[in-house]
Amino acid sequence: MSLDRRIDYETHGFDAAEADADPLRQWRLWFDQAVEAECVEPNAFVLSTIGDDGIPDSRNVLARGADGQGIVFFTNYTSAKSQHLTARPVASAVFSWLAVHRQVKLRGQVERVSAAESDAYFASRPRNSQIGAWASPQSRVIANRSELEALVSSVEARFEGADIPRPEHWGGWRIVPEVVEFWQGRPSRLHDRIRYRRSETGSAATWIVERLAP
Ligand SMILES: Cc1cc2nc3c(=O)[nH]c(=O)nc-3n(C[C@H](O)[C@H](O)[C@H](O)COP(=O)(O)O)c2cc1C
Repeated sequence: MSLDRRIDYETHGFDAAEADADPLRQWRLWFDQAVEAECVEPNAFVLSTIGDDGIPDSRNVLARGADGQGIVFFTNYTSAKSQHLTARPVASAVFSWLAVHRQVKLRGQVERVSAAESDAYFASRPRNSQIGAWASPQSRVIANRSELEALVSSVEARFEGADIPRPEHWGGWRIVPEVVEFWQGRPSRLHDRIRYRRSETGSAATWIVERLAP
């Protein structure tokens, strides 16, 4: 089934004439099609940050929403990635929807989402995930798995019978893109690449849409 869809998309291709004027709305359309095509973990994307040593550092995270401003993900604010983003608030992201032979990459600035937004998302998470957010000192060295399990037990005891509030060290980041590129695989390696570049005119963002050679 997915393979059929991939061939459909490859045959149809992707052209600037049919691209939405807004890259985040176009991202949402492709995301919905990735879900429909049953791509594995369609929310997952590789997030690259810049380490203190100047070397890029990458890992998967899950997109939890795309609002009018950007793509939002949640994590530990003391983690390595959050330290990188605090020191250098820029990122690159790539979604790989391989079953439909598509990739979308974004580059831009990052900002923390509001405390209210992080609170709302944290409250929607399963209790075990909430406990994990309190218990895990993400990206720190720990001695062994028992140390982690002991941390989980102490958080469980602390909040027994009570709602779990969001820890201050956990919340969302928003990637506000300046460049977004949509890649659609096509036969004979003549792939479609449609790039949006942000251009500020007055207070509103407008987007320059161009085709790139594959
Ligand atoms: C599919 C997938 C999704 C993930 N989603 C998240 C996520 O949404 N937030 C998060 O903090 N870590 C997520 N992780 C774990 C990260 O890849 C990473 O191990 C962790 O955030 C620590 O990264 P850092 O040390 O570079 O900060 C995910 C891993 C995978 C494989």
